[in-house]
Amino acid sequence: MIVITLFVPAAWRKRKFIIMFEAKNILGLQLPSDPRWVDLASISLEDILTDHAYCEQKATSSCMSLIQRYPSKEKLVNELSPIVTEEWGHFRLVLAELHKRNLKLGKQRKDEYVNKLLAFQKKGGAEEDRFLDQLLTMALIEARSCERFKRLSEGLDDEYLRNFYRRFMESEAGHYHLFIGLAENYVAKEKVRMRWKEWLGYEAEVIKNLELRGDRIH
Ligand SMILES: [Fe+2]
Ligand SMILES: [Fe+2]
Repeated sequence: MIVITLFVPAAWRKRKFIIMFEAKNILGLQLPSDPRWVDLASISLEDILTDHAYCEQKATSSCMSLIQRYPSKEKLVNELSPIVTEEWGHFRLVLAELHKRNLKLGKQRKDEYVNKLLAFQKKGGAEEDRFLDQLLTMALIEARSCERFKRLSEGLDDEYLRNFYRRFMESEAGHYHLFIGLAENYVAKEKVRMRWKEWLGYEAEVIKNLELRGDRIH
C-alpha cells in the first residue's frame, strides 16, 4: 500500500491518519518491526509491561523537561501540559495491569533505542536546529511506540490485551501528530520535512541493528 506523505494540509490530517493505520509503513516509519517481536513479547509479559511502564514515565519526564527548557514558547507549554498528565495516566494504567496480573514492576533497563536516537541529535549549531531535533526525537519515539502497540493489538492471543494496546496505539499516534505540529509551528515546514526524512532514515538503521528482544517495547 502507498504511504501517504506526512506533510499535508491540516484538513487532510484526519484522513491521512486513518490511511496511515492501514499502511505497512505506519506514520512514515521506513522499517516495519520484525513480526517475530510480538511472539517474543507475548511470552515475557511482566518484562514488556515493566518496560512499557518506564516508556510512559520517560515520556512524562521528557514533556516536563521541554516545558522547563522552553517556557517562552506558549503553544508548546499549553499543548504539552495536558500530555504530561496523559502520559502519567498511561504509566498508571500499565502499573494497574501489572498488579491485576500479580506481576511486579521490575527495574528500569538501559534504553538502547532512545540512547541511539539521542546520539543523532544536533548538540551544537543554531538553537532552532537543536530545538527541532528535540521535537522530532519525541515524534519518532511516539511513532515507533504506536507501531509496536499496533503489532501487539493485532498479534496477541489475549483479546483484553489486544484492546488494551489498541488504546495506547491511538493515543501515541495523536502525540506523534502533536510533536510534528509543534515543529511546523516553530520551524519552516520545508526544513522540518527535510530533517524528518533524515531522522526516518537514521531510525530505520537503529531498528535494523538492535537485537530483537521480547522484553522491551523498542
Ligand atoms: Fe503514552
Ligand atoms: Fe505518547
